Amino acid sequence: MKRVAVVGTGYVGLASAVSLAYLGHEVVALDVDEEKVRGLRRGQPPFYEPHLRELMALSRERLFFTTRYEEAIPGAEVVFIAVGTPPAPDGGPDLSQVRQAAEGIGRHLGEGFTVVANKSTVPVGSGNFVGALVRRAFEETHGKEADGRFAVASNPEFLREGQALQDSLYPDRIVVGAEDGRAIQALRELYEPILEQSFPPPPFLPRPERMGAVPFLTTDLASAELIKYGANAFLALKISFINELAALAERMGADIREVARGIGLDARIGLRFLQAGLGWGGSCFPKDTLALLAMGREYGLRLPIVEAAWEVNARQRERVVEKLLGELKTLKGKTIALLGLSFKPHTDDLRDSPALALARLLLERGAFVRAHDPVALPRARREVGRSLEYAETPEAVLAGADAVVLATDWPEYRTWPWRELRPLLRRALVVDARNHLDGEALARAGYRYLGVGIPDLFPVQEVV
Ligand SMILES: NC(=O)c1ccc[n+]([C@@H]2O[C@H](COP(=O)([O-])OP(=O)(O)OC[C@H]3O[C@@H](n4cnc5c(N)ncnc54)[C@H](O)[C@@H]3O)[C@@H](O)[C@H]2O)c1
Repeated sequence: MKRVAVVGTGYVGLASAVSLAYLGHEVVALDVDEEKVRGLRRGQPPFYEPHLRELMALSRERLFFTTRYEEAIPGAEVVFIAVGTPPAPDGGPDLSQVRQAAEGIGRHLGEGFTVVANKSTVPVGSGNFVGALVRRAFEETHGKEADGRFAVASNPEFLREGQALQDSLYPDRIVVGAEDGRAIQALRELYEPILEQSFPPPPFLPRPERMGAVPFLTTDLASAELIKYGANAFLALKISFINELAALAERMGADIREVARGIGLDARIGLRFLQAGLGWGGSCFPKDTLALLAMGREYGLRLPIVEAAWEVNARQRERVVEKLLGELKTLKGKTIALLGLSFKPHTDDLRDSPALALARLLLERGAFVRAHDPVALPRARREVGRSLEYAETPEAVLAGADAVVLATDWPEYRTWPWRELRPLLRRALVVDARNHLDGEALARAGYRYLGVGIPDLFPVQEVV
């Protein structure tokens, strides 16, 4: 058992804090947002993430929340930094939260040896930056040298929102970059139950079949930091690649779903992240690829593959608008029913959501956008506001619409009673920007159905 502090209770910080407490560590999670901390103390997570509330309840005896560095830091053997690194205007990440966290940690370092492990995604070299800030803050506060009291590590986080707890408890690998062997040792011990998969799984998060020991990869600081950017950029360009091919498939009359399957069954390539659609978004891929490009510029290097992934991605949203224009001729005054607002299913995170990027393009063209989302509506009302209309039910979102656009592949959209809903629409047109619905069933139910990189379907005249 270790004493752990986690600075920042966003998606990464909270998932890590709760998972570590579940494994038996004593965890103090710290956030500067008082309202968030008040909610967390009552057992209420500040965002939607499957099973988070239940795992918090199971771990509550070892999980504490505070807004005060002096309560979290002095007793901790390992302190994680998990604050936000949103994009700054120049494309690089804004490191102000990391700076404040490092200074807060430095001012309150305790007597024992502390490992300061960075989980926030930060540009290569930030480990040294964090180390310098912690040292300076400690020395300014205490008037003595900080040498030997702490060591910095980079421990990049690979969790996916919507599966954050699965990914925390059952990761593909754990990467730790550090120059000090004690930091690596402390983190290896901390993660031992995960590395060896020796913990009893929570009843609602069963261990995946064939899950073996988890690789623990130790590197220098810079390599660990670059691994995170490399992984996200690669996944983003894998999606952009299949989207680029989807455009060609559409012209040629091929079906990109079959093509992707045929490509992805090659073990060297893999099936995941080969779904053609509206493109990537969310809180990580856009900002991390931009940051990688910014790092390249700093070192005098262009990264044309990453640049191209961006271009293809922006194009994907426009392609949906073009499909709508092809059918409706103008979008002015037309009502578009937009299904899904979150950047992917099983989260209410709207940061850089492709659905919102598409909504903006539709609004620019004079359409009215009426949106539905199974969980993100309250957040959208707060964060997006009145430029969109919001609807809580299938009937409300579809009534009188000139077209339906599926933007986020929430599973429940597949089970809507599309045949019964059709009379509500002004025009039975579905643009499935995620190739998520059963197009043939929709065509049989009287819809014109357009996907991405797949043959268009016309309503089937049913023979009576
Ligand atoms: N969200 C993801 O899926 C994901 C996955 C992997 C890595 N990351 C990276 O992890 C980091 C955190 O991402 P997130 O999505 O959890 O961010 P987030 O914005 O959801 O959460 C950040 C939290 O830090 C708090 N905070 C800000 N300044 C603070 C300070 N000085 N002291 C204490 N708390 C402070 C904020 O109030 C907020 O609750 C980012 O660098 C991100 O790139 C995110």
